[in-house]
Amino acid sequence: MKKEKLIKIMKEIREAASDILTSPNFLSSDNNIQHGNISVMKHSKKVACASLALCRALRIKADERAIMRGALLHDYFLYDWHTPEYGGFWNLHGFYHPGRALKNAEKEYALSDRERDIIRKHMWPLTIVPPKYKEAWIVTMADKYISTTESIHFIKAARARKQRYIDL
Ligand SMILES: [Fe+2]
Ligand SMILES: [Fe+2]
Repeated sequence: MKKEKLIKIMKEIREAASDILTSPNFLSSDNNIQHGNISVMKHSKKVACASLALCRALRIKADERAIMRGALLHDYFLYDWHTPEYGGFWNLHGFYHPGRALKNAEKEYALSDRERDIIRKHMWPLTIVPPKYKEAWIVTMADKYISTTESIHFIKAARARKQRYIDL
């Protein structure tokens, strides 16, 4: 994505969701790792940017406000899923966190049906029932793309560190 385009999208997200972006709980998710060394907060912002960009690239007429806000809240589970308390790596976080995120988001925000669908279904096919709205399909796809790039980047960085060690 071109830098100017990204800056424009980020500005639009700030305008549509300043309440979410400045809320203590959302800011606290910067302390929880999502993939590699990327926090849940940064991951959520990246997914929001990628979702809006994808929607526009495909020229899909959609509720962009729901896309931005739903994407920011899609992983609003508010815990570190890597800790033993939540079962570590081999836990059922992948299956359960959309429900937890939705419960947390509903306590703080008046969500639309589309925003609810985005949060509840973003892990499809793990969540079995597929998204109902196109907005949820867009965020689901963007989330998978961003999650994959974050994981690949982390693996490559780890390999590079190992290689440097071997070169010594
Ligand atoms: Fe998720
Ligand atoms: Fe995610």
